[in-house]
Amino acid sequence: MRDVLISELIVGPAVDALAERFDVLSLPDLWKNEAALRAQIGHFRALMVRNQTPVTAELIASAPALLIVGRAGVGLDNVDLQAASAAGIVVSSTPDQNAISVAELVIGLMLSLVRSILPADRDTRNGNWARHCFVGSELYGKTLGIIGAGKTGYLTARRAQAFGMKVLASDPYLTPDNILLRELQAELLDIDELLHRADVVSCHVPATPATVGMFDAARFSRMKPTAFFINTSRGKIVREADLAAALKAKIIAGAALDVRENEPPEPGELELLPNVVLTPHIAALTVEAQERVTSAICDDVARVLEGKPARNAVAARLPSRPHC
Ligand code: MLT
Repeated sequence: MRDVLISELIVGPAVDALAERFDVLSLPDLWKNEAALRAQIGHFRALMVRNQTPVTAELIASAPALLIVGRAGVGLDNVDLQAASAAGIVVSSTPDQNAISVAELVIGLMLSLVRSILPADRDTRNGNWARHCFVGSELYGKTLGIIGAGKTGYLTARRAQAFGMKVLASDPYLTPDNILLRELQAELLDIDELLHRADVVSCHVPATPATVGMFDAARFSRMKPTAFFINTSRGKIVREADLAAALKAKIIAGAALDVRENEPPEPGELELLPNVVLTPHIAALTVEAQERVTSAICDDVARVLEGKPARNAVAARLPSRPHC
């Protein structure tokens, strides 16, 4: 029996250290080939993934010795948690390690949108000097609406407050007496009320059956025509066709998407709109965040392989299937 299979690009000193203690096989493109992944997984006690390996019930059924799935990141939409739990497999993720990087990217996207930085750059590269075509607006005094006020939403709000923004939050899991909301002096609102009042909306929501498609034509129609929409969480929460229609009809002023309904996306209408900023799911991709993420996930994988409880388990902290 082998120890750790890594099916996506996960590298760094923590992986090297893990490989000194355990038998690690790293195949960064394995996620692309389901049959090859299924052929390999039966030989391993641990699997390390990012967001692209589909850890399905079928894959889990092919993994009789698997004790832990280590998800290097936050979102768990590529892991069938129910199937893993039913099989007694620990699923561990790294919920807080990339929150700062995501929050910083949101601030960058927000500034890009309100100051048209990318259109101005493209225009200037084309030899123009059209200063008066790029009159922007300040963030100061504007209202940021955070949808999903977990760690990343909270850190984004703190940074926005440094620009003098007011903060609104919407989160079905929080109550107004939540300590972080109180610290932010943020009003907790129903989502539709938040959309109606915010100048910038930033989403920090996992993809679940309840959230997929939650940003549709009806939701965009509740936003101000001057408002900007930013999504760095999960692409499937947005109906992109509805977003493109809202932008074209000037129902909202602009949007920035780091995550897409399908990744990688087929280039379509959004790619043609000037008031859209698109990045390829890079919010968590900073040297610092990746170091933290990799180190936390390698630590949990090592712990479980040694029979210790995982620190960042999503469900069970110890596998309930026998070690072999
Ligand atoms: C996350 O969920 O941690 C980020 O979206 C990055 C990733 O999925 O790898």
